[in-house]
Amino acid sequence: MIPPTCRDRVVAPSLLAADFSKIREETTRAIAAGADWLHLDVMDGHFVDNISFGPAVVQAVHETNDIFLDVHLMISRPDHFLPRFIAAGSDLITVHVEAEHDVADTLRRIREAGCRAGLALNPATPAEAALPYLDQIDLLLCMTVVPGFGGQAFMDEVLPKIETVARWRDERGLSYHIEVDGGIGAPTAARCAKAGANVMVAGSSTFSAPDMAAAVKAIRDA
Ligand code: DX5
Ligand code: ZN
Repeated sequence: MIPPTCRDRVVAPSLLAADFSKIREETTRAIAAGADWLHLDVMDGHFVDNISFGPAVVQAVHETNDIFLDVHLMISRPDHFLPRFIAAGSDLITVHVEAEHDVADTLRRIREAGCRAGLALNPATPAEAALPYLDQIDLLLCMTVVPGFGGQAFMDEVLPKIETVARWRDERGLSYHIEVDGGIGAPTAARCAKAGANVMVAGSSTFSAPDMAAAVKAIRDA
């Protein structure tokens, strides 16, 4: 579920870092390790230079486990594929402001379908790109790596952007969650939380950890 306030910490392991040969077990492992959400990185090989998985995997996870599905669409035409990700059982769908679609219309359609709506900004995209949509979103994702691959280094230069969008939220009396994604482990989660983020996506630092529960807890407590 989406927590009551945007100050509640959420830990969302990214399935991209899981063993794809056993997705059901990996999802069960993440839930047992204390994950709040499961982050599903959908990549089309066009918006980003990698291809991961599509609605069929989202549906398989939805049918075999009970966890809030945080679906991150790194695809060029999120509007075109939206019905299939909604039907697959997504709980929250995040689309990129840089993709080729009518952003306001896509966000409106996500909410109309009963899903939560998220908007993502790549590291190079200024916070101002999100300004027209702040009252249409439940979550704002500030990418802390260039999207496409797990295991990259955290980009410090995104921290001021997190502070800006957190300030804008409070100034406007809005309540969107602020999510970070890419190079997140306990140390970087602490820095992002200090800047105003509350939803921590973590792939390699959780699924590849020797003790996943300890890794999830360390991010939660960071
Ligand atoms: C990258 C994905 C991230 C990635 C995070 O495009 O959006 O979610 O899986 O992986 P780590 O936590 O390993 O950087
Ligand atoms: Zn992601």
